[in-house]
Amino acid sequence: MTSSDRAARAEELRSLIEYHNQKYFVEDNPEITDAEYDELIAELRRIESESPELAAGSPLAEVGGGLSPLFAEVHHLTPMMSLDKTTSYEELLAWGRRIDRFISGAVAYTCELKIDGLAMSLLYEGGRLTRAATRGDGVVGEDVTANVLTVEAIPRTLAGAAPDLVEVRGEIYMPIAAFDELNRRQVEAGARSFINPRNAAAGSLRQKDPKVTAERELGFWAYQLGAVQGGPRFTAHMATLEWMRQAGLPVNPNIELVHGLDEVDRYCRHWLDQRHSLGYEIDGAVVKVDDLVQRRELGATSRAPRWAIAYKFPPEEKSTLLKDIMVSIGRTGKATPFAVLEPVVVGGARVSLATLHNEDQVRAKDVRPGDTVVVRRAGDVIPEVRGPVLPLRPDGLAPWAFPDRCPVCGEPLVRLPGESDTFCVNADCPGQRVQRISHFASRGALDIEHLGERTVRLFAGAGLLHDVADIYGLDYERIGTFEGWGETSVANLRAAIEASKHRPLANLLVGLSIRHLGSTGSLLLARHLGHLDRIMAASADEIAAVEGIGPVIGASVAGFFALPTNRDVVERLRAAGLNFEGPAAPAVPQVLAGASVVVTGTLSGWSREEAEEAIKARGGKSPGAVSKKTTAVVVGADPGAAKVTRAAELGVPMLDEDGFARLLETGVLP
Ligand code: IVH
Repeated sequence: MTSSDRAARAEELRSLIEYHNQKYFVEDNPEITDAEYDELIAELRRIESESPELAAGSPLAEVGGGLSPLFAEVHHLTPMMSLDKTTSYEELLAWGRRIDRFISGAVAYTCELKIDGLAMSLLYEGGRLTRAATRGDGVVGEDVTANVLTVEAIPRTLAGAAPDLVEVRGEIYMPIAAFDELNRRQVEAGARSFINPRNAAAGSLRQKDPKVTAERELGFWAYQLGAVQGGPRFTAHMATLEWMRQAGLPVNPNIELVHGLDEVDRYCRHWLDQRHSLGYEIDGAVVKVDDLVQRRELGATSRAPRWAIAYKFPPEEKSTLLKDIMVSIGRTGKATPFAVLEPVVVGGARVSLATLHNEDQVRAKDVRPGDTVVVRRAGDVIPEVRGPVLPLRPDGLAPWAFPDRCPVCGEPLVRLPGESDTFCVNADCPGQRVQRISHFASRGALDIEHLGERTVRLFAGAGLLHDVADIYGLDYERIGTFEGWGETSVANLRAAIEASKHRPLANLLVGLSIRHLGSTGSLLLARHLGHLDRIMAASADEIAAVEGIGPVIGASVAGFFALPTNRDVVERLRAAGLNFEGPAAPAVPQVLAGASVVVTGTLSGWSREEAEEAIKARGGKSPGAVSKKTTAVVVGADPGAAKVTRAAELGVPMLDEDGFARLLETGVLP
């Protein structure tokens, strides 16, 4: 970059940052995610450090943004500073080296969770809460006392001997369960849902009417003292935390005093891995020098102390363009809307599609093709579209309407009253057909190798497959003429189809795609009724009477076998020689007894539930996190970064899908 390019880019970044400060701090209506904001800041900081002459009047010298005219101004007694940030161990070490240059002797660090909420300064005078203020620009904040007084988690009076005056700093946050519940209520009331718990907390607190705040469940973690007059004197941060705890303020239990940056790194990694085990969101860890004398020696820059640093976790939210909303047809005919996104890397994976569940969800989120949307992917949870970034919505963007016809077969879609799902009820729909046949051939069902969705689509397109029974009457000569289908592949397919005839009855039941009937229900039916003929002959009530099966499955199974087309398929399967007899499955050898196998990412042959069930069925456990006790980690496509890193660190073996199949069979690590 030439110096004039640099100056121009710095100027551009500055106006962008100022714009987004206004949106975030004043309007509570951010247009970009925190991570994107941080990227702008980091870029400007880089340019300013390379060309210090560009730094004059930089917004980086300030801490936060402007103030809302809704609230009175409050001058903090001590400024509320910001924190410098790091995202890697290397940067953390560099920070540690700077500290070592200033301080002689050992340094102990307090490690805390970085709560993703709203910074708050509480002023207690004579032990009574007299004022509560937001951070504002760090020097002047907004008076939100009336609202904060409605927050139960915040004590109005301090316990024990109170100082004349004390400023307590902490974070107001919304627990995840409260956020989900609030959004459910917002949708019910026809109101817009909040994009994340932090926005919900900020929106709840910065209300003109404290009654609204009172209705919202908010939590508070105290993590720092500001001014203290006429009270105890402290020499260590841990002691201030303990004092706050004794005074009745909520102090997070996951705070640790550690020695050495390796330990700091261990703390950060631990919480990176475990962040979803907390009932509230964190976006990193905060590392603070514990000794208050050392802190004074280290001092601060104009915006942040040198004695603390935020270790930011990779973001789990990003915004991207919603290119389209499409509808996919599943094997039961369910029409599921999904978002087609401009690909974005979030939560350690590249996301280009995300389910939107059903018609009501799309309406509640009011996402429209052409919107910029916030996409979240947390841990191994499937990616989710949280909502639109409204200020970026182009003018005249029409709301999305659920199609009234099946996008595959063109027949009308049906949504029954009281149900949230929409269905294509055309049993001949080619979309459903391909899904049903691929499901029949999948691992949890008849497990036919070489007959994946792509092949099914090819054969169905060529008119060779109309239903699952056609699998057993395939025209192999014709298949041999298809591109890429040599003698060996045809022979392999043939052998795999032959082998599938001997699968247990429960697998066959799974393969029939009977609505509501999953693998557990199939196993129960096969075990209790013992033969497909008995299952077909049973009434809905008789099926529902099987232990573990209820009336919904009972009605669905009986309804399925009442249809002549389904009975016809069953008869053709019988003629082809498929096993109709129970008991469900031979007792599975407990080859994984005592083992702990973590699954991450997407596998092609198993859904996440199927993979976990397969592990459990063999006596193993399948927890959500990697630890020293983990036997192996199965790594599929787009795995969780935290799990893979942790496994590599601990030397836990990582398996691909083939390795997993062998492990299930033998219990031995390949
Ligand atoms: S200490 C001078 N501790 O992070 C140090 N901050 O980017 C003041 N935050 O404005 C902050 N958890 O809103 C501290 N355990 C914690 C925190 C924490 C969350 C927030 C706080 C602050 C921001 C700094």
